[in-house]
Amino acid sequence: MKVTVFGIGYVGLVQAAVLAEAGHQVCCVDVNPKRVADLQAGIIPIYEPGLSALVQQGVAQGLLQFTTDGAAGVAFGELQFIAVGTPPDEDGSADLKYVLAVASTIATHMTSPKVVINKSTVPVGTGDKVKAVLTTTLKTRQQDLQFAVVSNPEFLKEGAAVADCQRPDRIILGTDNPWAEKLLRELYMPFNRNHDKIIVMDIRSAELTKYAANCMLATKISFMNEMSNLAELLGADIEQVRHGIGSDPRIGYHFIYPGCGYGGSCFPKDVQALIKTAEQTGYNTQLLKSVEAVNNQQKHKLFGFLQQHFAGDLQGKTIAIWGLSFKPNTDDMREASSRVLMESLWQAGATVQAFDPEAMEETQRIYGSRADLKLVGTKEAALQNADVLVICTEWKSFRSPDFSVLKQQLKQPVIVDGRNLFEPSRLRELGFTYYAIGRGDSVKQF
Ligand code: NAD
Ligand code: UDX
Repeated sequence: MKVTVFGIGYVGLVQAAVLAEAGHQVCCVDVNPKRVADLQAGIIPIYEPGLSALVQQGVAQGLLQFTTDGAAGVAFGELQFIAVGTPPDEDGSADLKYVLAVASTIATHMTSPKVVINKSTVPVGTGDKVKAVLTTTLKTRQQDLQFAVVSNPEFLKEGAAVADCQRPDRIILGTDNPWAEKLLRELYMPFNRNHDKIIVMDIRSAELTKYAANCMLATKISFMNEMSNLAELLGADIEQVRHGIGSDPRIGYHFIYPGCGYGGSCFPKDVQALIKTAEQTGYNTQLLKSVEAVNNQQKHKLFGFLQQHFAGDLQGKTIAIWGLSFKPNTDDMREASSRVLMESLWQAGATVQAFDPEAMEETQRIYGSRADLKLVGTKEAALQNADVLVICTEWKSFRSPDFSVLKQQLKQPVIVDGRNLFEPSRLRELGFTYYAIGRGDSVKQF
């Protein structure tokens, strides 16, 4: 089938590459000329495992192409995906300007029937707004062309985006249009094996499903972070509690890892956006507001440990940081907990000496060159002459360090661990002071 994807970011590019792998012809449109030129030259703008090979394959087979030409994109596919960003507005609600701009591009240039599929995460009611743009523009153009608007939210996780798109848990189709449903069932046939993963519902429910899923997952994390803070005060170990509750299949082991707060381009903004959507209906979402508040507090946790350790005086200290991205296997720094930590450290007069396997370029892009930020090429180099080590992201390569090297390099044998990678008793035996989330040395002594 012929498909157009507007927006070549994490969602659009991965979706396009996976559709091309399944044999569909995909035209990707983006307003960012550098992004398009890079892709045309074989340069992949984001780090995502397996993506580069898949894009190269799609291009080589003539199934994947990139352009800035919106009109050409509209002419290309009967199916038109909108996969552009929906960043938070100043008040936290989702900014729909990019989504509506694509709707307008489609409406302005279409000369044949189109199914417009919204893959971006958008507030309930956006489908109606996209329909209105199409209806009004086509009327102005005096064109009586058939179209359908479908909500098809995306559930991929960064760092596992390709695998998630290749083998989705579910495919949500928000539509009441049989023509659109038929085309999308055909499009997704290669991904709908073993059992039927397609769930058809009305468009508003599909839009809410996406927010409900992300908010549920964010709630699990904030709940566990709250429990970990309580565990510290009560002298309990959150990791043992995690095992204890996860073994109940009604709770499960997924998304109950305590840490230094959730980040990324989805949870923080989607929780905020649903709070705003609710407010617009006059409903006060007490639970979601708490989820957000707990997370904002948790993002200051590591800095709190450092302040505690240095008795509030971080002036002139050098803090080694391992891991800057908001989670492993991505270079994405959006809402990363490391940013809150680094910014607090700079304000307190400390220098950051950091290593991340993929996110160094992005960190440099965000913060530029500054004397109190040293980005180094290896995890060992980050330790040199540093006072203590902080771990923000649980990259695999950080899980079994050579502790003797750590002890040699650090001025003090102190590890502040935002991801609970190590056993507190072992680190104590090795002579480290170990601050972790809801356990170990951070547990109050009774
Ligand atoms: P992104 O910022 O990585 O990419 C968006 C792209 O859209 C950019 O390249 C931008 O230049 C382009 N764009 C903006 N306006 C355009 C226009 N008028 N025409 C064509 N291109 C345009 O965003 P993302 O992370 O891929 O997220 C896209 C949407 O998917 C968001 O609504 C997000 O909430 C949702 N989502 C993201 C993830 C994720 O893990 N990143 C997962 C599920 C859903
Ligand atoms: C999330 C959703 O998982 C995905 O379905 C949706 O499409 C987009 O948003 P993503 O943001 O890529 O995906 O990563 P995810 O693995 O969900 O992690 C988000 C944040 O939560 C990270 O900062 C991670 O460190 C944190 N997290 C996750 C925890 O702190 N504890 C956990 O148990 C799980």
